[in-house]
Amino acid sequence: MHLPFQTDRHARTDYIVSSDLLAEPAVTGWGNRDAAIIFDSTLEQHHPRLLEDFCRIVSPKAILGVKGGEALKNIDSVIRTLGFLAEIGLSKKGLIIGVGGGTVCDVVSFAANLFRRGLGLALVPTTLLAQIDAAVGGKNGVNFHGTKNLIGHFYHPEAVICDISFLQTLPGTEFVAGLAEAIKVFAVSDARLFRDNLCNRELSRSGFSMDSLSTLVADSIRMKLDLLAEDPFEKSSRRLLNYGHAFAHTFEEESNFALAHGEAVLVGMTVENAIAMELGLAGPEIDTLQELINGLFTEDCRRYWIRRDRLPSVLAKLKSARPHGLDLVCLRRVGDAEIVSEVDVDIIEAAWDRAHNILMSGHQSKELTSAFASDPLCTYSAPVP
Ligand SMILES: NC(=O)c1ccc[n+]([C@@H]2O[C@H](COP(=O)([O-])OP(=O)(O)OC[C@H]3O[C@@H](n4cnc5c(N)ncnc54)[C@H](O)[C@@H]3O)[C@@H](O)[C@H]2O)c1
Repeated sequence: MHLPFQTDRHARTDYIVSSDLLAEPAVTGWGNRDAAIIFDSTLEQHHPRLLEDFCRIVSPKAILGVKGGEALKNIDSVIRTLGFLAEIGLSKKGLIIGVGGGTVCDVVSFAANLFRRGLGLALVPTTLLAQIDAAVGGKNGVNFHGTKNLIGHFYHPEAVICDISFLQTLPGTEFVAGLAEAIKVFAVSDARLFRDNLCNRELSRSGFSMDSLSTLVADSIRMKLDLLAEDPFEKSSRRLLNYGHAFAHTFEEESNFALAHGEAVLVGMTVENAIAMELGLAGPEIDTLQELINGLFTEDCRRYWIRRDRLPSVLAKLKSARPHGLDLVCLRRVGDAEIVSEVDVDIIEAAWDRAHNILMSGHQSKELTSAFASDPLCTYSAPVP
């Protein structure tokens, strides 16, 4: 599957969903470039042959292994990456290839734009979250002064190659983290894609065949690109793709980044659903959506819940970064979202308690997705304009 995305008059990114990275013409073409590879060293245990064969085809000038994970996402990692590029003397026309999860993609993209004022960049995302979201759209960021993604910029890669075979070795919680971003993108944009990709199956790695995984990744990328098409540099804060993210970063920060991004998005979507319920915007279908989310909560989602007495300082920090007001994405039903600003503190407090109750009483059963199958509300139709 090949999805070109025009970012401006001069730049284009090719998004490719594949099950054979090594056979992709884009990859074989990299063999003619002055290239360097930066990869998540965790992949050495899981995909040693694939990495070896990949390096043979690309014949990079040098390779650098880094340990993927949130602890990587800082300015020191960017500086180390720049030092590596300086040491090997990658030329202005060179290509830097990032292979790994969202943290590796963020750090490599950040450095690519700085070195010689902009190198060629290609990404090979290896987690579901990175294939669906982190490597899509050209945004990068690293954590700074305890704040999530405080520094970063936009730097669109030449190519993003999503090889589904990497996903076979993902731990269960990392798979769920990726599903959180899939729920996000479909829930705000397309009820049919939501149903086709996420309903009537077990929401775990074993619930997806290779074909259905390819479709999930390709549909998610397509929908994200559609939503970004009008605003590829995300100038507006009023973006549907922020669903679940108004508070997700706060949950990550308050946990000192022990809570994974995807887990924080599950909690963040729960809070925004609760706000939509308190505002009377959410239709009954949102209860069913929430049940699906409940089935994905991990122990860490509960462990790192932010107590209500912390809410005033949380809101103060969020509002100081957003002088024009805190925009929240509220769903009326799946595929039909609106952005609400200036929500009263009383409503947010009531929603906080509601979300806490949902989180603590939420079932863990993966079978809950079948709620959509039997629920008459799950016969989706296009939202009335
Ligand atoms: N730039 C953006 O637009 C954007 C969007 C969404 C998320 N993000 C960022 O992405 C990050 C989360 O990405 P992530 O979930 O990929 O995290 P990650 O990079 O930490 O990867 C998760 C874990 O999976 C391991 N891993 C990677 N590939 C693997 C594989 N194929 N098999 C087994 N293990 C593998 C990693 O070593 C790591 O331990 C967050 O920092 C988030 O802020 C960025």
